Amino acid sequence: MYIFAGYAAEQAKTKAVLRRLALPAKSALHCRSNTNNRITSPANEEGNHMQNFIKVQNCAKALRGMVETKVKMPRYGIVLGTGLGGIAGLVEKPLFVPFADLPDFPLSGVASHAGRFVLGEARGVPVIIQQGRCHIYEGYSPADVCMGTRVMGALGVEGLIVTNAAGALNPRFDAGSIMVIADHINLTGQSPLTGPNHDEAGPRFPDMSAVYDPDLMAVAEKAALSTGIRLEKGVYAGLPGPQLETPAETRMLRALGADAVGMSTVLEVIAAKHMGLKILGFSCLTNKNLPDCMAGTSLEEVIEVAGLAGKRLTTVMSQILSKL
Ligand code: HPA
Repeated sequence: MYIFAGYAAEQAKTKAVLRRLALPAKSALHCRSNTNNRITSPANEEGNHMQNFIKVQNCAKALRGMVETKVKMPRYGIVLGTGLGGIAGLVEKPLFVPFADLPDFPLSGVASHAGRFVLGEARGVPVIIQQGRCHIYEGYSPADVCMGTRVMGALGVEGLIVTNAAGALNPRFDAGSIMVIADHINLTGQSPLTGPNHDEAGPRFPDMSAVYDPDLMAVAEKAALSTGIRLEKGVYAGLPGPQLETPAETRMLRALGADAVGMSTVLEVIAAKHMGLKILGFSCLTNKNLPDCMAGTSLEEVIEVAGLAGKRLTTVMSQILSKL
């Protein structure tokens, strides 16, 4: 079921709020195309500085207005990466809200991403699933990349489960396997926390000594064991992309301690940690990325292998949710 009702009313209310705040309504309500969301000069435009506080609040308010009489408010947020949309099938009686129906929500141009939120209960847990994300390689700012995470945080979720497709750097990890993310290395050269800090959202200098929640990781490991699905554990390196890595770069990443490499997740996780959310992360390893026997990969291969690994991740996720 698609939810459109209430958007016009919500828009009018948001306009009234913006008038009170004396903000240009256009910037907060009508930047729906990809081009409008690309980085121009983030610091200059109201609401477009790195933490994006007002846009997030507007978006969360609009989303809440669309769903609050129809579903329980979510306890967990889940972000689905490339090829992993099937996990949304765990939601009973799902309510779909396309990103395009939300004011200022950045729209991904990646064809394999559905571009919507899915709300409802999965194994008894009220969830909000972000089906698709935008990336810095598309030209988006860290604030745009983290908009979904922050909206889910603003709705009051206690935890965030992030998923992605990634290349395996650890030679012991096979293509098609699933890795629980124990830690990450942010190699994007960017942070969603630069710019003025919004103390209401989180601290200026958030602690990063235990980003991925040990208790959630233990639940994931038990869930995998109980379903007979092998779960690797390792460090995810997040690069800006879009180009894949050279053999020399994969050698460097391995030397830095990374087990998997991809082009997403780290900025969203930083924003989630800033908001104090519990975090669990999974990479579906779609290809082996070994410096001495590099094989090329393609989006088609990534989607196909992620789809297969995604079926197993759905089984594990179902078990995890039943324990939350
Ligand atoms: N490198 C970076 N990102 C990726 C890869 C890779 O090998 N595979 C899937 N996403």
